[in-house]
Amino acid sequence: MTYKEKIDKSKLPSHIAVIMDGNGRWAKQKGNQRIFGHRNGVTAVRETVEAAAELALSFLTLYAFSTENWQRPQIEVDALMSLLVSSLHDETPTLMKNNIRLTAIGDTSALSADVNKELQATIDKTAKNTGLNLVLALNYSGRWEIIRAARCIQADAAAGKLKQAMSENVFAEYLTTRNMPDPELLIRTSGEYRISNFLLWQLAYTELYFTPTLWPDFRKEDFFKAIVDFQQRERRFGKTSEQLEQYESSQNQ
Ligand code: FPP
Repeated sequence: MTYKEKIDKSKLPSHIAVIMDGNGRWAKQKGNQRIFGHRNGVTAVRETVEAAAELALSFLTLYAFSTENWQRPQIEVDALMSLLVSSLHDETPTLMKNNIRLTAIGDTSALSADVNKELQATIDKTAKNTGLNLVLALNYSGRWEIIRAARCIQADAAAGKLKQAMSENVFAEYLTTRNMPDPELLIRTSGEYRISNFLLWQLAYTELYFTPTLWPDFRKEDFFKAIVDFQQRERRFGKTSEQLEQYESSQNQ
């Protein structure tokens, strides 16, 4: 039985977030430059997006470039940016064919004009698609997002536009993910056990799944395996198992 067949379609997570890691190590293992790993990582991106679309998930968020990634050698940053431009250009027809809507979170204003042009073109072209929401985190970090939200709140308060008392719901309205459910599952590849400043607010109750597979080797079955693992977990949200059982039996009556 494949992992895909093992998935309970009635209990799918609506939002999966992915930290794509291990491109550099994968390339090094093969005696190649780091960018060779990033290029091969695009295949894993395609497989993951296809797998999410096949399951009709609502949201898939990929950590494509963090605010910390600017610190990499300039040649690698440039290569990553041009890979992004070419991937957006080449994959837009596939996004259209599969009814996938692309959006971005992060400080995209700091990306080059070339990147912004291609990104905006894909965002505009896919804007009316109603299937999977593919979210690229670009020049994103969780702390940047929280500080940005705090500044917007400060500005709205000063302008007298903040009518409600602060609460989790009000705060979440100021995040870049304001129209998205929090991820139910986070996948990180390459055997690292870190969040790396990704979706810090939104991951509060997310199930974490770590795999030693390096990103360029990640395929649909690896994605499905993570979902099967997720479905075997009990999500308690601070409650006891007994409380959850009582709730579930009351729902089944
Ligand atoms: C992490 O591997 C990967 C990235 C920082 C970038 C991910 C980018 C892609 C997969 C390419 C294109 C993306 C899209 C959305 C088309 P790493 O370099 O940190 O690997 P290492 O930890 O082994 O050094």
